[in-house]
Amino acid sequence: MSTTADTQALLAQADRILELNDRGRYTVPTHGLYPFQWNWDSCLVALGQRHNDETRAWLELETLFEHQWDDGMVPHIVFHEPDDGYFPGPDVWNTGRSTPTTGITQPPVAGFALRRLYDSAQDNKKAKREASRLLPMVDRWHQWFFTHRDPEQTGLVALIHPWESGRDNSIDWDEPFEKVPTEGITPYVRRDTLHADPTHRPTKAQYDRYLWLVEHFRSLSWDNAQLHNASPFQIVDPGFNAILIRACDDLAHTATALGYEEIASRNREFAARGRAALETLWHDQNGQYACYDRVSKKLSDSASVGGLLPILAGLSAERASAITQRIQTLGEKVNYLVPSHDPDDERFDAKRYWRGPSWLIVNYLIVCGLRLSEEHQLADEIETQSLKLIETSGFAEYYDPITGEPCGGATFSWTAAMVKEFCLTPKIDKAS
Ligand code: GLC
Repeated sequence: MSTTADTQALLAQADRILELNDRGRYTVPTHGLYPFQWNWDSCLVALGQRHNDETRAWLELETLFEHQWDDGMVPHIVFHEPDDGYFPGPDVWNTGRSTPTTGITQPPVAGFALRRLYDSAQDNKKAKREASRLLPMVDRWHQWFFTHRDPEQTGLVALIHPWESGRDNSIDWDEPFEKVPTEGITPYVRRDTLHADPTHRPTKAQYDRYLWLVEHFRSLSWDNAQLHNASPFQIVDPGFNAILIRACDDLAHTATALGYEEIASRNREFAARGRAALETLWHDQNGQYACYDRVSKKLSDSASVGGLLPILAGLSAERASAITQRIQTLGEKVNYLVPSHDPDDERFDAKRYWRGPSWLIVNYLIVCGLRLSEEHQLADEIETQSLKLIETSGFAEYYDPITGEPCGGATFSWTAAMVKEFCLTPKIDKAS
């Protein structure tokens, strides 16, 4: 693609950030605040890396999957090197692995990333080799989800900790969190508030509950056969499920290209069942999808960006146009789409993470979904607003959707990777 001088300058900055956070075999989200390898950060970073260095991009995924658990789970953090600057560290999780990891997972974007790396590869031989190695591992992860997080075979999977959602501090978790106790947790000192403005971070009451869940799962020896039913927090998040459905579609596509028919048909089936079941999460009054709480058996009224992400899964024309309208309405309330929560909700907080701010990775996933549904005008608008944010506020972790102010950590890897995706990936490829 041809690029203007301004775009070239942005791309050069994005490259510098990806280099700065490159630890050789993996990339940290940003130094200081997040000093390890995070699951979905790495997969999205690989998308950015592929534009300059395919080998490096494949390595990012390989390193993550080297730490896949025997049961198939791919953990949310891999603690490659000790670093006291982060809490809760390996000793709190205590998952008993030789390279320590956490014991929960994160949004499964790997299948989505793998397809894109494979489809755009210049070095086809290497791509075939790498994809053939990774395919069965991603497939095992997808099977793990439907075995351990969908015990009643509903077609949708549940999260057992808010950190699995990737939208850690969303308003979506407030109500279900009331069922999570805090008694008996080991006293602790947070580190996140040393690196970022405490008013942008979760409150102490929320942190206590995050830790109660970790200690509870640890007391069950991280046995995934038990954790789902033993958790007081079991949430079916439409955004998370949409990512999984899309990853299953994409894995099936790559598996077919490589002749792995069994993997292809299994994942096609997962995607079809999931897409049909997504309909049970439709919230008519909000005009978007909502989280379902398996413990209280209630559909949530919280109108977060998790309910817009299903556009990525490929929706019916009726649902796609409803989601498009919903995003357009949000666009009248903010200057920088897509806010992580509806500004009309009194709990909306423009600067506190996941309770209002806009994130480039979410924008990118929504853009890919809108292009799939041929809603190109809104997709163009989100791309333009995203790049404007970067030009005015730099490569932050996330942004105030009204003022555009940068929030959270700075020099952020996935923000840099998404800039590369917005500028360098042809629109047509975002639709596939
Ligand atoms: C925060 C985000 C999570 C992300 C991590 C590293 O915890 O909520 O989605 O993976 O930071 O960037």
